[in-house]
Amino acid sequence: MKEVVIIYWSKTGNTEQVAKSIEAGAKQAGAEVTLLKTEEAEDIDFYDYDLVCVGVPSYHWHPPKSADRFLKDKFKEYRQAGKVKLGAPKVEGKQALVFCTYSGPHTGLDEATPVGDYVAQFFAHLGFTVLDKWYVLCEFRAKGPKGVNLEGRMGDIRGLPTEEKLAEISQDTKEIVKNL
Ligand SMILES: Cc1cc2nc3c(=O)[nH]c(=O)nc-3n(C[C@H](O)[C@H](O)[C@H](O)COP(=O)(O)O)c2cc1C
Repeated sequence: MKEVVIIYWSKTGNTEQVAKSIEAGAKQAGAEVTLLKTEEAEDIDFYDYDLVCVGVPSYHWHPPKSADRFLKDKFKEYRQAGKVKLGAPKVEGKQALVFCTYSGPHTGLDEATPVGDYVAQFFAHLGFTVLDKWYVLCEFRAKGPKGVNLEGRMGDIRGLPTEEKLAEISQDTKEIVKNL
C-alpha cells in the first residue's frame, strides 16, 4: 500500500480545505494517508512516504514565517544527515506535491508561484521528484484591504474555492496516487 503524508499550514482554513480534499483523493486511490499540520509534523521522516504533499498560503508572496521555519528546520536536519547531495540525485520512489492557496489581490497568480517554487526546491534538493505545484485561488478570509474579495486582480473571489474545485483536486490526487 502506498504511503502518503499531507502537511499543511493554515490560518483561515483555505489551505486546510485543500489539504482535506487531497486526503480524500489519496484515500480513494487506496493509499495509507496521514494528514498533519506543520507543527505536528516536526518528527516525521519525509523518506518514510512515497508521496509527501506540502501546502501553505501565500503571505506577501512568501510562505508564512512559521511554515518557512518548519521547512528550514527539516532541511537542516537532512543536510546534517548527509541527504543534501551535490547534483541532487533522484531518490527512487520519492515524490512530492506542492500546493499553495492565494487570493492574488495585487498581481494575481504571480503572488503564489514564488511560494510554490520555493517550497518545491526543498524537496528537489532532497532528491524527491516534484510531481506538480498546485495554486488554488481562495477568498481572503482574514482582515484585509477594503474590497479585497471583489476589486483585486482576480475579481470576485468570494466563496472560493468552490465545491467543484475541491472535487477536481480530489480527483487529480486520486489519479496521481494511483500512478505512484
Ligand atoms: C497576512 C496575510 C498576507 C497575505 N499575503 C498574500 C499575498 O501576498 N498574495 C496573495 O495572493 N494572497 C495573500 N494573502 C491571502 C492568503 O494567501 C489566502 O487567503 C490564503 O488562502 C489563506 O490561507 P489559509 O486560509 O489557509 O490561512 C495573505 C493573507 C494574509 C492573512
